Amino acid sequence: MNDKAYDSIKPIIWQDNSLQLLDQRILPSEHTYITLNDANSVAQAITDMVVRGAPAIGITAAYGIVIAARQRFSDNPDNWKQEIEHDLQTLAQSRPTAVNLFWAIDLMREVIKGLAVDDPVSTLLAIAKQIHDDDIAANVKMGQLGAQLIEHKCAVLTHCNAGALATGGYGTALGVIRSAFTQDKISHVYADETRPWLQGARLTAWEMVHDDIPVSLLVEGAAAHMIKTSQMTDNPIRWIIVGSDRIASNGDVANKIGTYALAVLARHHGIKFMVAAPTTTIDMNIISGDDIPIEERSTKEVLGFSGHEVAAQGAQARNPAFDVTPAELVDAIVTEKGVVLNPNLEKIKALMTNVG
Ligand code: MRU
Repeated sequence: MNDKAYDSIKPIIWQDNSLQLLDQRILPSEHTYITLNDANSVAQAITDMVVRGAPAIGITAAYGIVIAARQRFSDNPDNWKQEIEHDLQTLAQSRPTAVNLFWAIDLMREVIKGLAVDDPVSTLLAIAKQIHDDDIAANVKMGQLGAQLIEHKCAVLTHCNAGALATGGYGTALGVIRSAFTQDKISHVYADETRPWLQGARLTAWEMVHDDIPVSLLVEGAAAHMIKTSQMTDNPIRWIIVGSDRIASNGDVANKIGTYALAVLARHHGIKFMVAAPTTTIDMNIISGDDIPIEERSTKEVLGFSGHEVAAQGAQARNPAFDVTPAELVDAIVTEKGVVLNPNLEKIKALMTNVG
């Protein structure tokens, strides 16, 4: 048996006083870490998707702030708290949708405000490491809770990559799948390839193969057919399990473009739709998914493939990276603090009163 992917593959490492990011743009063919030593490079790495996935982005930003504090304090120990605000803003502009990014920046900003004048690095590094460790623990807990919802052994379908690579480790949606698979509740995983970045083909399939979990890739357009026809087999797809980049206070869920279509399909075919996300992904400041900023990325990602232009010359494109699934299509939101079935404002508020 291989080491499990979530133990052996670490998207984010703090080593030798530097931040090292596994370059997810070139996985699975190359495993290369990039070393980052300033806040601008960390922000650029998030924008360029060296690191991606909502929790992983938040953790990376926290380490980026440690690096920024080291530089600012060394350059200007008397005024570093004012100057570091520029770095926090730069990091906040790196990607707009995943709220974990803003959660981590706000938390670090509050810690900075309360710090005494002496060297801030060790305190901030301890907080960044805690954010990292807490995320892994949350994923393991969500794995247990989510697996409990799966009553009969079945196939499941997932989208994008909500695995070890998208988090501190273990994964949100893939954490649930890992946990349920070890309990013999999952017979097969269908993974959407997830155009245009192919997080499903490159990352999710890689994590599943590494953990000896049987996985078949689908082009997104195949999901409806596979869900429908699998119902007549011994291996029906009974759950769609995804992660999230931001959950509004009413339970609307932003996730990788294509997720909304899957939720509609799930309801149409009478199968269940589960969202696994830590409470750091819940944004109580917004009342519905309409308020979630949806990142629109370069059209080059759609008009080309693997660096080559493929579309007809003159064609335009749109490239929204996320969509919003209305709460009424979500059967369960699984967090580390508990499961919310058929989410709504009241239930999400009740869950969040337990969050310290
Ligand atoms: O554009 P990405 O790769 O950052 O998008 C990632 C997703 O949409 C994930 O499903 C989401 O962040 C949940 S990850 C635990």
